[in-house]
Amino acid sequence: MVLLPLYLVFGLFLSLAGASPISGLSVRDGSFTVSAKRNPSYVPDGRAEYARALAKWGAEVPAELQRYVERVEGQSGSVGAMTISGDREYLTSVGIGTPPQTLALDLDTGSSDLWVYSTETNPVDLSNHTHWIPANSSTAKIVPNATWEIQYGDSSYAYGNVWRDTVTLAGITIPNSTVESALQVSWKLSSDYDMDGILGLAFGLESQVSPSQPTLLNDLLLLLESSVFTADLKWRAEGAYGFGTIDPARYNGTIQYVPLIDDAQFWQYNFTGFNVPTANPTETQTWYLSSWSAIADTGTTLLMLADDIAAIYYKSIPTALFNSSIGVYQFPCSAVLPDFKIGFDGHPGGAHAMVPGKYINYTVLEESTSTCMGGIQGNYGQPFAIFGDIFLKSVFTVFDVGNKRVGFANKTLT
Ligand SMILES: *[C@@H]1O[C@H](CO)[C@@H](O)[C@H](O)[C@H]1NC(C)=O
Ligand SMILES: *[C@@H]1O[C@H](CO)[C@@H](O)[C@H](O)[C@H]1NC(C)=O
Ligand SMILES: *[C@@H]1O[C@H](CO)[C@@H](O)[C@H](O)[C@H]1NC(C)=O
Ligand SMILES: *[C@@H]1O[C@H](CO)[C@@H](O)[C@H](O)[C@H]1NC(C)=O
Ligand SMILES: *[C@@H]1O[C@H](CO)[C@@H](O)[C@H](O)[C@H]1NC(C)=O
Ligand SMILES: *[C@@H]1O[C@H](CO)[C@@H](O)[C@H](O)[C@H]1NC(C)=O
Ligand SMILES: *[C@@H]1O[C@H](CO)[C@@H](O)[C@H](O)[C@H]1NC(C)=O
Ligand SMILES: *[C@@H]1O[C@H](CO)[C@@H](O)[C@H](O)[C@H]1NC(C)=O
Ligand SMILES: *[C@@H]1O[C@H](CO)[C@@H](O)[C@H](O)[C@H]1NC(C)=O
Repeated sequence: MVLLPLYLVFGLFLSLAGASPISGLSVRDGSFTVSAKRNPSYVPDGRAEYARALAKWGAEVPAELQRYVERVEGQSGSVGAMTISGDREYLTSVGIGTPPQTLALDLDTGSSDLWVYSTETNPVDLSNHTHWIPANSSTAKIVPNATWEIQYGDSSYAYGNVWRDTVTLAGITIPNSTVESALQVSWKLSSDYDMDGILGLAFGLESQVSPSQPTLLNDLLLLLESSVFTADLKWRAEGAYGFGTIDPARYNGTIQYVPLIDDAQFWQYNFTGFNVPTANPTETQTWYLSSWSAIADTGTTLLMLADDIAAIYYKSIPTALFNSSIGVYQFPCSAVLPDFKIGFDGHPGGAHAMVPGKYINYTVLEESTSTCMGGIQGNYGQPFAIFGDIFLKSVFTVFDVGNKRVGFANKTLT
């Protein structure tokens, strides 16, 4: 316990008034006006000033306060999202350990676990993956008796041990992060030789670690200048993720924000309309207006809409068909696809995002017959659509944790 000079304590109370409580400090919620303010736009931050005063006077800064201050003097950064095999996935270089060991991870807004291949992984599953060597990291520490086990929506799975180590993402150093090390990885995941693990960034969802541990997003938010991250994925090109700030050079016009649904465990929001051009351009275009729930998921390749919406889209392409033996919409590769517009403000032709037809021609399904597969598919009766990469590369997306909302903006598409 350190005794403080009296005026410091007084200063603390002055500047803390009106601030929200942080744990360990009880703060009265009220407002305090200082009559002789020189700079009206200067907003005092009592906690930062307190920490600086403590440090200056040689006192120990409480850990919680230090974390808060690091957030106030917050960081931001951006990092590339490399496209893999025709936009099947996007991978980002992430450093694990001290010194950082660089792995190519899939940043996934649809899950909350950070797991990697490691020296603990079954050699059969490890094959060619770059993997984490905890023995080579001076900051790696195993969490005794903690385990993790995850099963993704496509029935792939992985499980293993839990560690803590420093993670370096977009130039931001996140100490003491939960790092899940794989013992076993299902073939569906391990046969993706490009990907060395997954870094989950879901909203409000606990990781699959038992007993419960903080997620990377929990730890990262404490360090950021602002509680946001952004995704700027690109069609067959390298895009970027940004953390702690919204880079105005990455979009045009205004950002259309949509609130997350109550108790969201993912980046789940409602969109309120969609537009499908008719095959005959002289016919009037139809806007369908209602409310549809959707999840923004960087870790999913396709745009998976309610089955009836997908059917409506493909009805506008005379040569498209639903191939029931494999359960996908397909069309001749020569087909020119219409754009698909998704509305956010409940008005036909109002604020909307546009997915170019070119992006909806996802990949060749059968070389011999020159058949292609659609980037829009049905969601097999799930209660929400999944706005995967086909959609996300068409827009600039803001994942706003602080304000519980997702934002979409236009950018020039190639
Ligand atoms: C592993 O990498 C080697 C060398 O790059 C390559 O020859 C081999 O085919 C790869 N194995 C698999 C399963 O991809
Ligand atoms: C890990 O550390 C060992 C022992 O210091 C060293 O020989 C090896 O090269 C390191 N491996 C990597 C991938 O850095
Ligand atoms: C881990 O589990 C073992 C066996 O159940 C137990 O003896 C040990 O105390 C546990 N360690 C911790 C840190 O919980
Ligand atoms: C690391 O994080 C864990 C889980 O939040 C916490 O219990 C532990 O005290 C932290 N260690 C350090 C050195 O901050
Ligand atoms: C979101 O859409 C779903 C239907 O998909 C609807 O049941 C729900 O009421 C909507 N929520 C809001 C807040 O509009
Ligand atoms: C449906 O897909 C299967 C497997 O790719 C293919 O053999 C078949 O020809 C397709 N059907 C049509 C009508 O194209
Ligand atoms: C659709 O995509 C395939 C595979 O990338 C490509 O070969 C084909 O030319 C594309 N079709 C059109 C109309 O652009
Ligand atoms: C993108 O620009 C178009 C044309 O100006 C506009 O109608 C649309 O609402 C914009 N979309 C977003 C998400 O701002
Ligand atoms: C914004 O619009 C200008 C003019 O059309 C264009 O040159 C620029 O590339 C756009 N910026 C982005 C990030 O799309």
